[in-house]
Amino acid sequence: MKAPPSELTRRQVHEQLRLLVGEPVSAIDTPALVVNLDAVGRNLRRMAEFAKKHEVRWRAHAKTHKSSALARLQVQAGAVGVCVQKTSEAEAMVAGGVHNIYISNELVAPGKLARVAALAHRIAAENGQLAIAVDSALGIHRLAQAMNEARATGGGSAVIDVFVEIDVGQGRCGVPPGRQAVTLVHEIRKHAPLRFAGLQAYQGKAQHVRSASERRALIGQVVQDVIFTRKLVEAEGIPVPLVTGAGTGSMVCEAASGVFGELQAGSFMFMDADYAQNERDAAQPHFEHALFVKSQVMSVGVDHAVCDAGHKSHAIDSGMPRVHPLAEQDGPLSYANGGDEHGILRTAADNARLPVLGSTVWLIPGHCDPTVNLHDHMIGVKGGLTRGVSTASSGWTPAVP
Ligand SMILES: Cc1ncc(COP(=O)(O)O)c(C=O)c1O
Repeated sequence: MKAPPSELTRRQVHEQLRLLVGEPVSAIDTPALVVNLDAVGRNLRRMAEFAKKHEVRWRAHAKTHKSSALARLQVQAGAVGVCVQKTSEAEAMVAGGVHNIYISNELVAPGKLARVAALAHRIAAENGQLAIAVDSALGIHRLAQAMNEARATGGGSAVIDVFVEIDVGQGRCGVPPGRQAVTLVHEIRKHAPLRFAGLQAYQGKAQHVRSASERRALIGQVVQDVIFTRKLVEAEGIPVPLVTGAGTGSMVCEAASGVFGELQAGSFMFMDADYAQNERDAAQPHFEHALFVKSQVMSVGVDHAVCDAGHKSHAIDSGMPRVHPLAEQDGPLSYANGGDEHGILRTAADNARLPVLGSTVWLIPGHCDPTVNLHDHMIGVKGGLTRGVSTASSGWTPAVP
């Protein structure tokens, strides 16, 4: 559901959403972000079974959904906790009752690190645990400073878990595999409020490589890099408690490696249109699409129809949304960008017909994480997209950057 007109207060919007609970799917105004909670439940069960079979733990990435309500569902299904990417996401999770959180990202701003340190103390008081990634001596030093200040001002003696990130081919954050990582491990161990928790090795570029065998080859190299680095750390007499990483595209490889102890996949819960184009590895559980933009046909031309969901309703960095087959009683439809508020629908087969004016079209976003980021609310539906009812709405507080 799009951001409310400014004259509506947040309370009024919440009231409108509350009134939707128990109403049929047809009552959801468009465009709206809708979560099929039955499909979410099945995806979570399949992930839990997969992780159990491979004797790895899973820590779902909450950057996908940004919702503490969905994070709690993940923990109920067996996740050890969640990953987040931002300080504000960690704060929203704690406020929503999630107490085992890993910020799988680097922070160096003292203001943000002060918030992280405060959060570490709050979580510890609630028997939880906060963790964070680092890739620089400066980041470690500032984190230690923030933790010491929080100890001095607020009392408590919380310890934060710290993972050293190695760059295993993504070319983003992380030090190169090898000695630089060992130097950072020593740096962490100089500070009492920091505890070396292991290595982070996330290969983001491998996730969307279409060929399953090419993904396997890329993660094979990742595993070699991790083994090499871990041996160097252990040679100093320092145990490496955990190796964490993996996304939806490659997780079968990390799970089977015997090296990774934790999977960070996030998108598997919603499964966007882009991930559906990956060649499925035989070992990969079947994950269903569970995140949709509900839209309505608002105009019909000679050779096209127009729906009310443009790129303000879904992210297009990974391509256009796919039209859900539910709308294809009259044959498959293609979606083309019609601008901010419009989507152009065309028939995609000779025998297909355009949808009629006023009909509902369900879109499967190309990329789920930034699509969620465009909306203030998601509406949970149970019982299917045709005859189901709204059961919950999940709003997240727009975060402090
Ligand atoms: C560090 C890290 N871990 C895990 C993930 C989860 O990946 P996915 O949503 O593709 O499963 C991401 C996604 O970008 C990430 O940046």
